[in-house]
Parts: sequence; C-alpha cells; structure tokens
Amino acid sequence: MQRYSRIAIFLHWAIAALLAFQIAVGWALEDLGARGFMLFQMHKSIGMTILALTLARVAVRYWKPRPAPVEGGWQGALAKAVHAGLYLFMLGAPLTGWALVSTAKVKVPTLIFGLIPLPHLPLPMSANDPASAAHGLLAWVGIALFVLHVAGALRHHFLIRDGLLWRMIPGRSSVLLVALPASIALAFVLGRVILPAPAPKAAAAPTAPVAVEEEAPANVVEAVDNGAAPVEAENAVAIAEPVGPPPAWAVQPGGTIGFSVGNGGETISGGFSRWTAKIVMDPDHPDSADIRVEIDLASASVGDSYKDGMLAGDEFFDVAAHPGAVFTAKGAEKTGANSYRAAGTLTLKGVSKPQSIRFTLSGTGKARKVSGSATIARAPFGLGNGESGSGLDPKVAVNFGFSAKAE
Ligand code: HEM
Ligand code: HEM
Repeated sequence: MQRYSRIAIFLHWAIAALLAFQIAVGWALEDLGARGFMLFQMHKSIGMTILALTLARVAVRYWKPRPAPVEGGWQGALAKAVHAGLYLFMLGAPLTGWALVSTAKVKVPTLIFGLIPLPHLPLPMSANDPASAAHGLLAWVGIALFVLHVAGALRHHFLIRDGLLWRMIPGRSSVLLVALPASIALAFVLGRVILPAPAPKAAAAPTAPVAVEEEAPANVVEAVDNGAAPVEAENAVAIAEPVGPPPAWAVQPGGTIGFSVGNGGETISGGFSRWTAKIVMDPDHPDSADIRVEIDLASASVGDSYKDGMLAGDEFFDVAAHPGAVFTAKGAEKTGANSYRAAGTLTLKGVSKPQSIRFTLSGTGKARKVSGSATIARAPFGLGNGESGSGLDPKVAVNFGFSAKAE
C-alpha cells in the first residue's frame, strides 16, 4: 500500500492534535477573563502555528506525490469534500481568530510564544462580531467534519478492510496506529487539565473575575448581628443595636479589584489577582470602621503579558522597588441608605496621599456584599510618568466587589 509522505503524515497528526488542544482551551477563554491572560497568549500562539503548519501542508500536497484515491463514486466524492472542508477549517479557524483580535475594542498585542509580535490585520471594527461568531462556529464545523472523517477511516479499516489507515501511519506500526489517533484525545484532555480552577461561584462579582487570596482578619471579635440597614429594614425587621465591638469581616474568595483608564479614545482595563483586606466595621455605626487593604502590585494584569510587563516596570508600579500598595482608613461616613464614603490614605510607589473610596453594602446580617469605587489621580504617585503612559487619562477608575462574612 502506497503511503503519504512522512512529512505529510507528520503534519496530519501534529495539526490534528494541536487543533484538539486549541478547542479545549478556546472554550474556556471567555470565562477566564484576566485570570487567563497567559492562556490567551498561548491560544493565539498555537493558533498561528497551526496556520503556518497548514500552509506548509498545502505546499507539501503539491510537492510530494499523494497516493491515488482508493474509492470513486459518491463515497470518494464525500471523502474528498470532507478533506476540503477540513482544510477550510484548518485555515479558517486561525484566520477568524486573528481577525477577531485585530478588530477588538481594546487591541491587546500578541507576542507569539513571547517572542514574535503579531501585527493586527487591517480590518474594520465592524468585522469583530462576525469574526468572533465564525471563530466559535468553525470549531463545531471542524468537529462535525472530524466525526465524518473518522467514521470514513474506520469504515475502511473494519468494514472494507482495505488497509487505508496505513496510508497515514508511518512504517505500518501498530503502536502508532493507536498512539497517533490517541494523541488527539490526549491533546484535548491536556487542554482541559491546564485550565486554572474555576473561581468560586459564591462571591462572583460583576467585574472581570480575578482570583483572590483571602486572609482572615487578625482581630477576630465576637460576631454581632447588625440587622439590616435602616431603609432596608423599614418594612419590618427591627434594627439590632450593636451590643459589642464592631465586627471584623472576612473577605470571601472570588472578589475583584479592577481598574480602568482611558487611553486616547479606548479604555484599558485590568485587575489585581492578589490582595487582602482587613475590615472592621459596624454598618450602623460606620465611624467605627477600620479598613486596611493591601494589594500585591505584581499581580496587576490587563489580560496581556506584554502590557503586564510594562505595568510592573518603573514607569508604572515599579514592583521591584515597591511591591505593594496599601489603603488604610479609620472611620467612614454614611452618604445614603446603604452607601458610605471612607477617607483614608493610599500609599503607592513610596508616596502616601489622602484618598477616599465610596462603597455600598447589600445583604443583611453577617453576610454582606460590598461594591465600590475610587478615582485615583496618577500624577502624585508617578504612575505612567514615562513615554508609554503619555496617552493615558490623568485619572484611573478603580472598582471593587466582594462578599464578606462577619466573624
Ligand atoms: C487554529 C485553530 C484555532 C482553533 C481551533 C480555535 C478555537 C477556539 C474556540 C473553540 C474558541 C471558543 C469560542 C467560543 O466559545 O465562542 C476560541 C476562542 C478564542 N480564540 Fe481561538 N482558535 C484557534 C486559533 C486562534 C487564533 C490564531 C487566535 C488569535 C490570533 C485566536 C483567538 C481567540 C480568542 C481571542 C478567543 C476568545 C473568545 C472570543 O473573543 O470570541 N484563536 N478559539
Ligand atoms: C483519529 C483521527 C483521524 C484519522 C484516523 C485520520 C485518518 C486519515 C487517513 C487514513 C487519511 C488518508 C485518506 C486517504 O488516503 O484517502 C486522512 C487524510 C486526511 N486527514 Fe485525517 N485522520 C484523523 C484526523 C484528522 C483531523 C483531526 C484532520 C483535520 C482537522 C484531518 C485531516 C485530513 C485531511 C485534510 C486529509 C486529506 C489529506 C490529503 O489527501 O490532502 N484528519 N486522514
């Protein structure tokens, strides 16, 4: 039996396994948000590799003779059509992926395997939705064609027994006959296994999901049920007056601290994945509040390793010299039924300045949801004071959301 050339066989199985890996990772990307920025870069890098391998494969097809088709008739035509479809999938998936990142609102640079910058295709922004839809759909088209293709291969192997499968297996090796198709399944499983664990649902916040390190407050005090805030309680529940010291609140996993800043018409958004907060506060007596938030600046990410490297550098956070930012506030004031303002101090990059934050509480008793924001002026802290930050707006919006339980 005449075989495909070794190079064609190699490309056939390598591309097949890489595609399975891509689909496994791709399906998780949208849910990962900022936590998956390394996976985004990897997905794009491997995707572009598939494009290069496919182009090489098309070239090999014309350069190395292929075995003659074994079957004519409609079955032969179907096999041919499925092969053509598979080629379209192999080319279409990376091209639509490339198109969708080239037309996204926030243009995130791609460094292929951390080395080669991928230029953005000159396409209009209106191409983003169709490219994105086609990208997701093509994966399913590919899977359908793959099922037909494998069914055809198995039909030849087990029903017709014409040994067609050997045309794609080097050296008639029975081990490879099992190992090569199995590598496709393995690559899919690998793509699922490497995904980070899902963020706990309990405290999922509306902003980009960011993994959070929780830390129990140091000063655990007797828990007090504070009842509801006055307006909420209007209808029925009597407000329990605090009968002891203000409660300490343990921040639950799954919260987020995000930031965004305008940059010449577009917005750059990101978040911090490592931070801790120690909060002591009686919502009915906010003057009792004692708040300390520590942020690991090395965990800042805008979802792209290239820009994140710049964030850590001396024009932005200068992580090497100042690894953390600290916000502290003693006392907060009530500004509405459930809303508060805390005037405190922010220490960032060695500079301490007055900074206030606004937040609202929802929920009652010992479980509350906190969401809030702050506007931080960049200049006093020397954030983005170099050339790469010259297009940035002077103020950065910070927003946060988390659940907290009274200890
Ligand atoms: C080469 C084969 C590729 C395959 C099989 C593939 C497959 C997938 C799949 C199945 C998804 C999930 C889509 C969804 O759930 O709607 C996805 C998402 C994504 N892919 Fe790919 N991909 C490939 C190449 C690329 C390339 C080359 C890029 C960019 C250069 C790219 C960028 C993206 C992005 C940014 C997403 C996130 C979801 C979105 O915004 O729609 N992909 N990919
Ligand atoms: C278990 C999985 C697979 C098996 C057993 C398999 C088997 C084969 C065999 C035996 C051939 C040669 C057909 C012939 O000589 O007429 C072939 C050709 C081909 N396969 Fe696969 N394949 C698998 C997966 C895939 C995947 C995932 C893709 C692409 C996404 C793919 C794309 C192709 C293409 C395009 C050809 C035609 C090659 C040409 O003549 O240009 N295969 N495959």
